[in-house]
Amino acid sequence: MEKDLLVLLNEKRVFNPPKKLAENSNVMKWMKKKKIKSYEELLEKGKNIEWFWGEAAKEIVKWKKPYKKVLEWKDHYAKWFVDAKYNIVFDALDKHKNKKKIAFIWEGEPKGEIKKISYKELNVQVNKLANAMKKLGIKKGDRIGIYLPMIPELPTAMLACAKLGAIHSVVFSGFSALAFRERINDEEAKLVITCDSFYRKGKTIPLKKFTDEALMEAPTVKNAIIVKRTGEEIPWNPKRDLWYHEITKKALSNCKTELMDSNDPLFILYTSGTTGKPKGIIHAHGGYAVGTGITLKWVFDLKDKDVWWCAADAGWITGHSYIVYAPLILGVTSVIYEGSPDFPKPDRWWEIIDRHKVSVLYTSPTAIRMFMHFGEEWIEKHSLKSLRLLGSVGEPINPEAWIWYYEMIGKGKCPIMDTWWQTETGNHCITPLPITPLKPGSATKPFPGIQADVFDSKGKPIVNAGGELVLLHPWPAMLRGIYKNPEKYQKTYWETYPETYLAGDVARIDQDGYFWIQGRDSDVLKVAGHRIGNSEIESALVSHPLVAEAAAIGKPDEIKGEKIAVYVILKKGAEISEELRKELAEHVTKEIGKLAKPSEVWFVSDLPKTRSGKIMRRVIKAKVLGKDTGNISTLSNPEAVEELLQAK
Ligand code: WT7
Repeated sequence: MEKDLLVLLNEKRVFNPPKKLAENSNVMKWMKKKKIKSYEELLEKGKNIEWFWGEAAKEIVKWKKPYKKVLEWKDHYAKWFVDAKYNIVFDALDKHKNKKKIAFIWEGEPKGEIKKISYKELNVQVNKLANAMKKLGIKKGDRIGIYLPMIPELPTAMLACAKLGAIHSVVFSGFSALAFRERINDEEAKLVITCDSFYRKGKTIPLKKFTDEALMEAPTVKNAIIVKRTGEEIPWNPKRDLWYHEITKKALSNCKTELMDSNDPLFILYTSGTTGKPKGIIHAHGGYAVGTGITLKWVFDLKDKDVWWCAADAGWITGHSYIVYAPLILGVTSVIYEGSPDFPKPDRWWEIIDRHKVSVLYTSPTAIRMFMHFGEEWIEKHSLKSLRLLGSVGEPINPEAWIWYYEMIGKGKCPIMDTWWQTETGNHCITPLPITPLKPGSATKPFPGIQADVFDSKGKPIVNAGGELVLLHPWPAMLRGIYKNPEKYQKTYWETYPETYLAGDVARIDQDGYFWIQGRDSDVLKVAGHRIGNSEIESALVSHPLVAEAAAIGKPDEIKGEKIAVYVILKKGAEISEELRKELAEHVTKEIGKLAKPSEVWFVSDLPKTRSGKIMRRVIKAKVLGKDTGNISTLSNPEAVEELLQAK
């Protein structure tokens, strides 16, 4: 962070988007239509929130029955486009069903494996799967757990659920069997969709085996649909398991899209918070379609001829919104890549960009820093001349990485859209448009129709000082609650400040009104852009028979932004050893998944605590990073702070 700040102090340049790009942008065209003359005026007009979102809806969706009211807001629950009849599948798929245009260009990790799927074919696949699911008794409101890698069947499965009005819940394929089990039990899933195994870094990952382990204790799940991806031998339960290719082969290729209320749930996506248990974030059909559609259209300026690559995984919100729903609503062609960025060589991505003439690329700061680390020779071999716009998401981008991305990948001609948002917000909230002057490292300003601010602890707006990032007014793609946990919904987002959404990030607004997001508060880690709750890691650790107590903190990491370090107190009689260190790291991997594997495991005899027994992660972090710990006299055991330096 300090290093970044120094870079920032010297980095006062402002990057204006190329004139031609700005002039021809989707947002500029709309502004001309509405006689809006400048970016500032657009933001001003956007403050008329209900007007703005009503207009945005006209650009993106076609309701089956129009709404009566734009917004109804009660007890922190929103209804957007009240009483409209709708299903997101009408706009994502049904309206394109006869188009030969390619929806997805898919590349498998093994080289040479490429599939191009037209809108027409995608529609047939979705309908077949939906019909097959119907036969298994799936209906509106049922929950379906999807545990798939980046293969075309992942978006197909999501759309088939939406088509039937069933609620999908995708679990990232890098999560462990136990993490998948926890989620499908929380939502009481009736069906799961998975595959035999898939490719990652030249190896195969046995997803069906993990699924079997998850389903050992998942009483609500009646069936598992298995996609054949690699053709590897897999265990089979004839009472429960069905091959995807067999059930879809027999199914009819047309299926009615269920007519839903605009506010009916579309999906649940679990994300980490302050407790050991992940939260099931709920999103709804209508508002989500409008919000994701308009942000993609304006921020990334997608047009008919563009080839869009959002290089995230559809197991996260980025993929839900900007690989699956919004690009399909806009009818663009997207790239999907199954594998690792450095397989077989560190230039796989640049090869993909040149091969498919990708024009807009959206990725994370971690990926950018990784490519910086691989070296420029891997990039120089490729032209990348098809690119016209770039994006960043998931964590703060340090100005150094921003400039590198701008110069090496964008060749100094592609503006970078640094988009701040969350699983909960559904769409970009603080983000540039292709008409916004850019400052490297700043996500710039709120999207029109979004009102954001930075508050001090008393709830007063502050400028040029760090504070809590808040959103002041509901927005269409916002979360509609936490599945089966209304108390947590109120407490996490709405109780800190009245009628104000608390994002959980620390940010600063500069004198020009630009937002600088500094990172999460101390209860959530961001490792390679993935959100992991500190307490999730801690509860995984204390579930190990030899662990008495544990604290997980983030330490700065040059590539991943943060890495996980854990401080563990062993139970009496347990002995410290190198094997145990490895075993504990593996144990966390088994409980949560590889993404949560600690990089450092430290053994200590005590951990600093408050008088009420709460472990003070903030103090631990300050101490082990050699920073000021602040006043520690109120701790119940201040001597534990010095002892941290003797950790083994
Ligand atoms: C958290 C949300 C949003 C899709 C991927 C992550 C951090 C996200 C930025 C950005 C600085 C960012 C925040 C946020 N974050 N984008 N452009 N600049 N920080 O979704 O897992 O729900 O995480 O990611 O800390 O709260 P998520």
